[in-house]
Amino acid sequence: MDQTKWIDLDTESFQYSLDHFVIPDHYEDALSSVLIPHGVIMDRVEKLAKVIVQESTGPLVVCCVLKGGHQFFADLVNYIKKNVTRGGKTVPLSLEFIKVKSYSGETSGEVKLSLTEEECKDFAGKNILIVEDIIDTGKTMVQLLTKLKQYSPESVKVASLLIKKTPLSNGYIPDYVGFSIPNAFVVGYALDYNEYFRDLDHICVINDHGKQKYAVKN
Ligand code: HPA
Ligand code: MG
Repeated sequence: MDQTKWIDLDTESFQYSLDHFVIPDHYEDALSSVLIPHGVIMDRVEKLAKVIVQESTGPLVVCCVLKGGHQFFADLVNYIKKNVTRGGKTVPLSLEFIKVKSYSGETSGEVKLSLTEEECKDFAGKNILIVEDIIDTGKTMVQLLTKLKQYSPESVKVASLLIKKTPLSNGYIPDYVGFSIPNAFVVGYALDYNEYFRDLDHICVINDHGKQKYAVKN
């Protein structure tokens, strides 16, 4: 893929100080920096929406991967709708929501979807746009695509807000990417750490204290 198709962030060389943004008090001590301010996210999502509509060839089934994809999905759909009021190209949308469970321990590489068999059969002949928050190793997405293709959709494309530069990557690259990020654990804009930080607007890097504070307690 053309490397200019996304914004390449290198946190090693640049991160915004928390002091320069409004951060909820309850998360202030758990974060090390702001990686992507909310306003920049929104501007980038607006552009992705425009490109997606321009490249669409017919009605789209926009498929939100829960829970992390929900904020990107909501803003992306809103910007696609705005394209209509601005007199741009329009495309009919239908919306779908899925939870994906992958069984990392299994060699079969199967994923289980929250949709019923009947709901999956509705994908036949449709143009699907999967909306995901982040591609990390790429494993879940490759498994999800394999599964969806069994239902004979006309096309399947993937929009991911983030792609992580990690040595564990299987090389999968989505059709639409907002930002390429360094190999750090990020939270906010619906990305979580043990279900916390979804209520944070900016995408931030969690610190060691935050990982301890919000660790799973048994
Ligand atoms: N943050 C949140 N969720 C994730 C990440 C991350 O960095 N990588 C994979 N899932
Ligand atoms: Mg996700």
